Amino acid sequence: MTGPQLRLEGVSAGYDRSTVLRDIDLEIPGASVVALLGSNGAGKTTLLRVASGLMRTSAGRVLVGGQDVTRAAPSARRRHGVCLIPEGRGIFRSLTVRENLLLQIPPWEKDTSLDAALDMFPALRTRLGDTAGRLSGGQQQMVALSRAFFGSPSLVMLDEVSMGLAPIVIDEIFEALRTLAARGTALLIVEQYVNRALAVADTVYMIGHGRITYQGSAAELDQADVLRHYLSHDLATAPGSA
Ligand SMILES: Nc1ncnc2c1ncn2[C@@H]1O[C@H](COP(=O)(O)OP(=O)(O)OP(=O)(O)O)[C@@H](O)[C@H]1O
Ligand SMILES: [Mg+2]
Repeated sequence: MTGPQLRLEGVSAGYDRSTVLRDIDLEIPGASVVALLGSNGAGKTTLLRVASGLMRTSAGRVLVGGQDVTRAAPSARRRHGVCLIPEGRGIFRSLTVRENLLLQIPPWEKDTSLDAALDMFPALRTRLGDTAGRLSGGQQQMVALSRAFFGSPSLVMLDEVSMGLAPIVIDEIFEALRTLAARGTALLIVEQYVNRALAVADTVYMIGHGRITYQGSAAELDQADVLRHYLSHDLATAPGSA
């Protein structure tokens, strides 16, 4: 694969008649970790939907590994190595853990062993026969994250995977993300815990009201800088401001 893992060029997108994303340029060069930060309603989830093919662009291009996938369906993008862990986990609560994991293995994968995920999340081994809805929130999130361990995706996008979880469980989840990154998987992380995101990211993009308002090295920022940026941008662009 040549070119950046993900590149959005001048992307606009929205719902019905409302435009949410406006002229977004974003790039994940190679196997790096990018944090996408922004306040509520800024357009983070929408950006991940557009990148994974769940939503169409109204302008601009989406490239994965240098290939134009702007018109490609989510399943085709998955074949190009794109994996989305959606907000709210996106697992089947009434199916067993084993059934959930089997559904996550891409159809073109010959190996149907669950070990790739179970080695990362050993706590799931004893729960394979249980209905996913009966698991703790942390274990449900592990089931959701297992998708990233099947089929060797080259880009994993994660939408607030720490939502509602205890700090000790979030530690485990971020350990799994570090493992993915160490294997050479590019990550695009949307995360409300700014410090957690900064600790793992190489690059930070900030989004406000559907526009990229900042791009820079994660090492140059701390949580206070990020929150100041949200605040100044939200105030500067609030309706009625000069
Ligand atoms: N299905 C939808 N239909 C119409 N408008 C939507 C839909 N989903 C989101 N929006 C609107 O699009 C804008 C961006 O929403 P989005 O969910 O992308 O933000 P976000 O940055 O992920 O926010 P949060 O931090 O709350 O998750 C918001 O104004 C939201 O109200
Ligand atoms: Mg969101």
